[in-house]
Amino acid sequence: MYTPDPRLKHLFDWHVESNSTWEEQLSRARFHYRNPNPAPRPNTFRSIGLVFFNSSLRTRTSMEVAAARLGAHTSTIIPGDGVWSMEWRDGVRMDGQPVEHIREAIGVLSRYYDALGVRLFATGTDYALDQNESRFKKVLEAATVPVINLESAVYHPCQALADAATIHEHFRDEVKGRRFVLSWAWHPRALPQAVPNSALLMAARLGMQVTLARPKGFELAPEIMKLADSYASQHGISITQTDDQDAACEDADVIYAKAWSGNMRYENPDAEAVLRNQHQNWRIRERHLGEAVFLHCLPARRGVVVDDAVLNSSQAIHLLQAEFRLHAQMAILERAWKLL
Ligand code: CP
Repeated sequence: MYTPDPRLKHLFDWHVESNSTWEEQLSRARFHYRNPNPAPRPNTFRSIGLVFFNSSLRTRTSMEVAAARLGAHTSTIIPGDGVWSMEWRDGVRMDGQPVEHIREAIGVLSRYYDALGVRLFATGTDYALDQNESRFKKVLEAATVPVINLESAVYHPCQALADAATIHEHFRDEVKGRRFVLSWAWHPRALPQAVPNSALLMAARLGMQVTLARPKGFELAPEIMKLADSYASQHGISITQTDDQDAACEDADVIYAKAWSGNMRYENPDAEAVLRNQHQNWRIRERHLGEAVFLHCLPARRGVVVDDAVLNSSQAIHLLQAEFRLHAQMAILERAWKLL
């Protein structure tokens, strides 16, 4: 397990942070939601470099606005798009396409910025590299300023904090024991598991009754299940798994839909695609909703992951959830810069 450097307020993932930090950050995110128009902050000359190895709408824009609200400057850096492409491997002769080694890139950026945000999805081809978060940990090793995880191979902590704050706000703090269904959904592409991992851990940590609904072959990693079970057991709750989406959604308080790839992705991607395509009926429909609210991290493919009628209903609170990304990241930046 990665142990954070106590001198730097990195945000790698919440599971390496104490309950008091998690709760303090949750409370601070909600504070920003309730106080959206504070007095303008003076330019602090702080700055954050946002390095996006993968595409984004919400994370990128909400981080830019969050930093601006704290009086800080941002740059968005997209390697390979007007910025040198990066080499990740150590000990190789760099005579191929990548121009700059990640160790120099992060070392240099650490000398310009007061924090870095990094989005770095799973490779989808090297299981050990992805599950060990080897590339993200290389960034943490090279950085001399706080690094915020903007979605790595296994975790999406910014999303998790926003999700938790949305649920607390919606249910006015009556969250423990409510039924949370994390439902797999079909998607034409093999997507990473960071969001479902973080959503599962978040709901278990909040003490919700968690049901993971997924077809066989789409289980989450054993390490994630073990961690989620340990959070759930602290609340005297156990996590349920099922391959029956309809039954899982009955009497739910929250339905959180997400597409992710199957376990065969690494060893046999063709077989994973064949299996995934057998489950195209896994989509959240109006009949699933009952009294539940609907969450999705977005982007969501309408008619594929979820029906229009669900997203268009008043029970869909996905836009509030997206708004909370801004408030959550203000809290995260305040912690990184020790403004609290
Ligand atoms: N939910 C989320 O991380 O959105 P983006 O991929 O648009 O940043």
